[in-house]
Amino acid sequence: MLIVIDKFLEKNDVANIRKSIDKAQWNDGRQTAGGLASGLKNNKQVDDKSDVGIEVANFLLEKLGNHPTFISAAIPFRIHPPRINSYTKGETYGVHVDAPIMSMPHSNDVLRSDVSATIFLSEPSDYDGGELVIEGQFGAQEVKLNAGDMVVYPSSSLHQVLPVTRGERVSAILWAQSMVSDASARSLLFDLDQSIQSLTHEGKADSEELMRLSAIYHNLVRRWASI
Ligand code: NI
Repeated sequence: MLIVIDKFLEKNDVANIRKSIDKAQWNDGRQTAGGLASGLKNNKQVDDKSDVGIEVANFLLEKLGNHPTFISAAIPFRIHPPRINSYTKGETYGVHVDAPIMSMPHSNDVLRSDVSATIFLSEPSDYDGGELVIEGQFGAQEVKLNAGDMVVYPSSSLHQVLPVTRGERVSAILWAQSMVSDASARSLLFDLDQSIQSLTHEGKADSEELMRLSAIYHNLVRRWASI
């Protein structure tokens, strides 16, 4: 399931990130693509180990950890620090699947990627092309969102970034290991949780039925989560 989170970042957060990365050290994106993916990847990314890379990643990690919709969608156990990338004219990332196991920077831990996410940091009017195309159960979906919006999708999906034909497309990408590894179970939990949240906001928070639904949600998490 593909989940769009509008306005994950405020416009001033986007502006601050864009300002910070202006002075960043940019590397060839192929450095972090293994195997088949390295021949398909043609972009630039901020050096993960640079001060700017770490500072922006930490800022985004804190936002992710406090965002109820992201938490509901990903049920994260561990999040790989977001990485900033840029595609300019002619740059692209062909159809690929993200690496299943990733090393966590600055530690010996590894992460199994269950959930992938892209946070858009350019406005759609800033560039042509550059759509993120995600293949799913119901065919391929093209995603091009406003700056500050995020899309969350299963890491098992084949996806690509179409060639940019004008301007620059900047985004942050990240991966999470979920406590619920099965994408369909996660999707059911997300739908249930969102319905409970809507009923709560409708002022039905003290109804017994809502309490029972909430108990079912938590008991399903207890059943399906592995930590
Ligand atoms: Ni990818």
